[in-house]
Amino acid sequence: MDWEQIYSHAFQWVKEAGEKIRLSFDKTLNIQTKSNPNDLVTNIDKETEQFFISKIRETYPGHKILGEEGFGDKPENLNGIVWLIDPIDGTMNFIHQQRNFAISIGVYENGVGKIGLVYDVVHDELYHAVKGSGAYINDKPIPVLHPRKVNESIIALNATWVMENRRIDHNLLIPLVREARGTRSYGTAALEMVFVAAGRIDAYISMRLSPWDFAGGAVIVEELGGIVTNLRGEKLDFLSNDSLLVARPGLHETILQEYLKCGKW
Ligand code: IPD
Ligand code: CA
Ligand code: CA
Repeated sequence: MDWEQIYSHAFQWVKEAGEKIRLSFDKTLNIQTKSNPNDLVTNIDKETEQFFISKIRETYPGHKILGEEGFGDKPENLNGIVWLIDPIDGTMNFIHQQRNFAISIGVYENGVGKIGLVYDVVHDELYHAVKGSGAYINDKPIPVLHPRKVNESIIALNATWVMENRRIDHNLLIPLVREARGTRSYGTAALEMVFVAAGRIDAYISMRLSPWDFAGGAVIVEELGGIVTNLRGEKLDFLSNDSLLVARPGLHETILQEYLKCGKW
């Protein structure tokens, strides 16, 4: 398999899609809701996904595609090469703020992440990695990640998870929020993952995400020695929704064992 070629196509298509999104800022958005009034989608989410799908189908007809907006395939397994695409991660930010969103792409072979691309369109920062070849922001290599203590760490999570909720006993997370140097919430899982990769934050926690939210970021974070699991410390399977704990090495273990009690809840 010519991974260099797939990578260079993916890279070029992400940049092209980003340019189209930037140009859309001057036009009126068509906004619709999906599962609930706060689950938003726009014509730009849909057009961006369709753009990738037409490029992939034309160039790599044997590859499978799982895209958030449903224009791809409905893969039943991860056999072969599968593209996992979130055309706009952080749609709410895209609509309300015109910033703090990203295009996220992961290319997997038999369930193993080979290529990760997360493009912060507004800042023109493309985070990218090919498994085994290092990770970069644009053309700048990102240094590997080292452990850090909780009280020197910035942890990203939504306020929802420290309120009573149906996914986790929020009492587990309160001590973590109290101990951490700071907390943040950016509203875009893909960017929060690559912020961990870049050392801008130290961990990111979410209770429920979909494969297209974390597939691209996982390749980039793992390439730098960061750890990506669900909140029970298990590997993700990239075909199911799951919780997510992404962190520096060491810090991941501390959060899992000392705060999340190794997922025994
Ligand atoms: C959402 C964002 C958000 C996360 C949600 C995701 P979308 O993705 O990543 O940060 O909290 O769970 O669904 O819908 O904007 O692509
Ligand atoms: Ca998303
Ligand atoms: Ca999305």
